[in-house]
Amino acid sequence: MLARRSRVAVVFVLACGFYLFHKALFSDSGLVGFDFTIPHDTQIQYPFKERGINARDAKKAEAVKEVMKRTWSLYKEKAWGFDEIKPVSGKHGNSRNGWGATIIDSMTTAAVMGLTDVFNDQYDWVVNHVDFNKAQGLVDPFETTIRYIGALVSTVDLLEAGVISAPSPSFREGILAKVKTLADNLGPGFDTPTGMMWPRVNFTQSLGVDVYGRRHEHAVVHLARAGSHWLEYSTLSHLTGNKIYLDNSTKAWDCLVSNRRGEPWPGILESPRSIWTGLPAGTTRTLGAPDDSHYEYLIKAHLLAPNGSTKQYARRWYQAMTSAQKHLSSTTKSQTNPHTFLLSYSKNRYENKVGHLTCFIGGNILLGAKYLSQNSLFSFGEALIEGCHHSYDSMPSKIGPEGWSWMPRESHLRPPHFPGPITLSQKEMYEKTGIWATETNYNLRPEVVESYFYGWRITGEEKYRQWAWEAFQAIVRGAEANWGYAEVDDVTNLRKEGNLRDNSESFWSAETLKYLYLIFEDPELCNLDKWVFNTEAHPLKRRF
Ligand SMILES: *[C@@H]1O[C@H](CO)[C@@H](O)[C@H](O)[C@H]1NC(C)=O
Ligand SMILES: *[C@@H]1O[C@H](CO)[C@@H](O)[C@H](O)[C@H]1NC(C)=O
Ligand SMILES: *[C@@H]1O[C@H](CO)[C@@H](O)[C@H](O)[C@H]1NC(C)=O
Repeated sequence: MLARRSRVAVVFVLACGFYLFHKALFSDSGLVGFDFTIPHDTQIQYPFKERGINARDAKKAEAVKEVMKRTWSLYKEKAWGFDEIKPVSGKHGNSRNGWGATIIDSMTTAAVMGLTDVFNDQYDWVVNHVDFNKAQGLVDPFETTIRYIGALVSTVDLLEAGVISAPSPSFREGILAKVKTLADNLGPGFDTPTGMMWPRVNFTQSLGVDVYGRRHEHAVVHLARAGSHWLEYSTLSHLTGNKIYLDNSTKAWDCLVSNRRGEPWPGILESPRSIWTGLPAGTTRTLGAPDDSHYEYLIKAHLLAPNGSTKQYARRWYQAMTSAQKHLSSTTKSQTNPHTFLLSYSKNRYENKVGHLTCFIGGNILLGAKYLSQNSLFSFGEALIEGCHHSYDSMPSKIGPEGWSWMPRESHLRPPHFPGPITLSQKEMYEKTGIWATETNYNLRPEVVESYFYGWRITGEEKYRQWAWEAFQAIVRGAEANWGYAEVDDVTNLRKEGNLRDNSESFWSAETLKYLYLIFEDPELCNLDKWVFNTEAHPLKRRF
């Protein structure tokens, strides 16, 4: 034990030395030129009311709510208390430590939809049944934070804002006691020289560990895991008055947020990182998974608590997005109908591949670019959303695939020759649409409708609502199963035998259905000028 400790200490001292040396060499900030003033009064959401627009489409909102009700009642009947229902067989599974992920993750959906009975059942589960001192398996701090902690702190904000009525006068204490227990049990995860979190926590041992349950100094994490606690933890500190959560999550993110000169593309970081030193342990540069919400949270951190000390996050976001526009943006070859997608970069090569998960970024760019009044960036965000819509529109099912490729127009990129479509059906799809699916499944993911939500709420353009409605109909048609809604194996061929996978993650009700509902409901509900959504679609109240 001692030997290991001292070895660790040596590594840490060396890393600090390297860092200070580096800092001395490149002392002035790479954010020079990015030091524009950050407004604090820009209106983000389109002024529907001021323009006399009744933007509520009650019929469509109701249709989405019906799907939520069906999802919920089948879960309750067949899988109550388990993390998720198996929608094809009607069985159940625990993929999130057995705390009833579907119940807790969809509390805020029940709240915004006004499903009081559902919400009361969920509240009862949280305060009277779930035990956050016991966990099935190793606990993933990232998933736990965005789904469980995010949902619970959001619930307090929503109840206090009167979005749903309180199931009991003591709801605040009831919920906060539970979420504190959970966050405190995750605490040992922060126990690293950098403060970056271990990839897992063993609750029995109260120790941070790697994904196999081991402790060693080679543990690495991807960017999203370092940065995606801040919104939830700073809210928890705000609600409990205990600064430890804010402090820990701030420190965990610090070495990614503070700028280093010598980043080839300022703001875009190499991933993964060593949790021991904070330094890169890999060479991938992407805005997509598994680095996504690091970028997403930079602008949202400032929006949540817009003050002088959070400006650094907004600047860092702007820097990263500007670099992405310059280095990762790619346009398809078609002259008549071009589409824009994001490349990724790994081992000194670009990859002409993008995925459904990356589609959150168009909406995130609209949010930040609108706030910071950056028009060119705003157009880039719109183009990226259009590209994601094209991925849906190109599939025979009208549901977008998990991953797809295109032939980049840019001729200066390395490698000069990108891999093209391989199979006959890929070639046919490429001829017709300019893209081809590389992973044909759809996992009930939200990112595309999430970006439509931002598109609609920020621009007021009808096309986003229309795209959302088309996506909703296509998903319900393609994913409906006997016991809920299931992952689709092949969006290019819905008639395929056994096309539904017996799986349904909690983000289906937490995110996908919530964003769809909010697109058709009164835009005053979770107005973007008052709320910030965490990466699991749990709305948090902005603090001015
Ligand atoms: C947590 O640690 C305990 C004690 O070393 C061990 O028995 C257990 O298997 C670990 N838990 C998991 C899920 O690996
Ligand atoms: C905060 O971080 C320290 C490590 O620096 C850890 O020991 C502690 O448990 C953490 N507490 C919480 C509430 O996260
Ligand atoms: C800004 O907000 C953060 C997060 O809530 C808080 O910790 C900090 O004290 C605030 N700073 C100022 C100058 O108000």
